[in-house]
Amino acid sequence: MLIPNHIVVEVREASPILDIVQDHVRLRKQGRNWVGLCPFHGERTASFNVHPGKGIFKCFGCGKGGDVIQFVMEIERWDFPQAVRFLAQRAGITIPESGQESSDKREPLYNALRFATRFFHSQLRNTSEGHEAGRYLTNRGISPETIKRFGIGYAPDRWDALFQAARAEHIKPEILQAAGLVVARDRGGYYDRFRGRVIFPISSHVGKVIGFGGRRLFDRSDTPKYINSPETQVYHKSRVLYGLLQGKQSVRKAGEVILVEGYTDVLALHQAGVENTVACCGTAITPEQVKLLSRFANRIVLVYDGDTAGIDATKRALETVFAQGVVASVVSLPAGRDPDEFVRESGPEAFLKYLQDRKEDIVKFIHGAALCHGGLNSLESVAYHAEQVLRLIVNLPDPLLRQLYVRRVSAQFAVPEDQLTKKLKQLHVPAQVPVDVSAQSPAVVLMTVPEMALLRIMIEHGGPMIEFIMGRMNPGEFSEGSARHIVERLLALYKEQGGETKAAIDRGMLMLDPSANHVLAHVMMDEYQPSKNWETKNIRVPRINEDTRRVALDAIQQVKIKRVNERLEALKRTIVQAASGSEEQMRYQAQLLDLLKLRRELKSGGYFK
Ligand code: CTP
Ligand code: MN
Repeated sequence: MLIPNHIVVEVREASPILDIVQDHVRLRKQGRNWVGLCPFHGERTASFNVHPGKGIFKCFGCGKGGDVIQFVMEIERWDFPQAVRFLAQRAGITIPESGQESSDKREPLYNALRFATRFFHSQLRNTSEGHEAGRYLTNRGISPETIKRFGIGYAPDRWDALFQAARAEHIKPEILQAAGLVVARDRGGYYDRFRGRVIFPISSHVGKVIGFGGRRLFDRSDTPKYINSPETQVYHKSRVLYGLLQGKQSVRKAGEVILVEGYTDVLALHQAGVENTVACCGTAITPEQVKLLSRFANRIVLVYDGDTAGIDATKRALETVFAQGVVASVVSLPAGRDPDEFVRESGPEAFLKYLQDRKEDIVKFIHGAALCHGGLNSLESVAYHAEQVLRLIVNLPDPLLRQLYVRRVSAQFAVPEDQLTKKLKQLHVPAQVPVDVSAQSPAVVLMTVPEMALLRIMIEHGGPMIEFIMGRMNPGEFSEGSARHIVERLLALYKEQGGETKAAIDRGMLMLDPSANHVLAHVMMDEYQPSKNWETKNIRVPRINEDTRRVALDAIQQVKIKRVNERLEALKRTIVQAASGSEEQMRYQAQLLDLLKLRRELKSGGYFK
């Protein structure tokens, strides 16, 4: 089931690495690179780099690196074809099917869910029953654009509308059941889970529909107001956030995400232009959801109902959020009103202003909550509530931020700052940061610094420098393994592409082994500093933007000297073993002299004259 090379190239070209990585990692720009916390190992300082220009990523903590396809493989734990298929789908590139089924057993579920999404949506548009649902949505102020953007649909009020439609498309009942779309009857057969309901498709943040929420049309029946997909192989409600797919760009831009409770709140706010809004749909926010959000933003705004139940729920949510080292602030709505109602009654501008005016940090929030619970009238309760804040901030990774919070607590609760600092130290349990022992992949170590410099020059300059360097060396002079593999691929590509080699490299046509790709990412990263080792070993430090040929010659010289030294060592061993005075030994002695002469020439630079 090989995917043709030209398709792989096309997919790679159509998949900007920055976009794809940013679905998983929050990055900030640093020079030509983007850096962030590595998603592959636990760390507190950013050593994960993305170079959009070169289309590669590299973590200097755990050593993982490669191109966009390898990133997807690593992060999703997929094999190569799966990753390419995913990126192809994302970019709208069709991969010719070879008849074989995809190896991912979740794929049929995604297909069924995609089918159901289209079915529900077309029911909403094209049936009279659906039009009634459409009027319901209109009455709730949901615009046609919002309906389209969120793929809202309608499930007919029948037992088998979806089931029959899916059967006509040869989707197996077991798949529908596994996708949570139908329910098996005790006495055999199946019935639709969603009936007579407005359907809100729930998508993963990368754009696959994984489940549905269904709201009953009118508040007159005795069925539950909402029915949601059950947990399935693809739908894990603790890991998904409604609206994140549609809102992630805004979330990233704002650096802040607004968390609300319901589907309709998300719809209303997005429609009002507040697109950095997501919902965790009826459940309390989970650590997984906070982790997911922290890839896109470093602040969460909790919007909650201002009654006592709302305050308690918010306190629990704050614990979950801060436990992940993420900062949250809170906005209390007038009791009994949700954001959707607020926007509909007072308009989006009023809501935005309300958000601005009423946003409280946790110090204010806990202080206010304590007051309204009748607390803070004793010194014990002041100490207790001040400590509540400390317990939240103790997990924040930034010491400066922690200290600023301490100062705020000190002011708000009138407690001496140094006492709070002491208390905070007591509360602090050092986090276990997993240390990755494979900090440097062995493949990288197997290559010398001058070899890296040569590879880098050839990749960056293409044809002319490949010719210049390989005209003076042979591939066998490069270290066995990745280095030699890359050189051989470069030569092959140069023979094929000539003057177009550089463009071909940029289009990803080098087609390296995964491990070599990984090594290459390491070599190509700007952070890569050849100077360190070289200086300690008293070797002239080349800089790539110096005269490139000069740099290349220096590196060639180093590589050749190293190889000659290796041969000399081997030869000396053989000479010792050979019978003394034998013809054999004389021959070796002669070779030895030749090598010594060669080394002298290399060292003096005379070799290149
Ligand atoms: N919810 C649910 N099951 C229920 C009730 C609620 O899953 N039986 C979830 C839904 O995700 C819902 C959220 O909890 O959106 C908030 O519930 P609620 O405030 O009751 O609903 P609203 O979102 O306000 O919906 P509507 O405005 O249509 O009443
Ligand atoms: Mn509501």
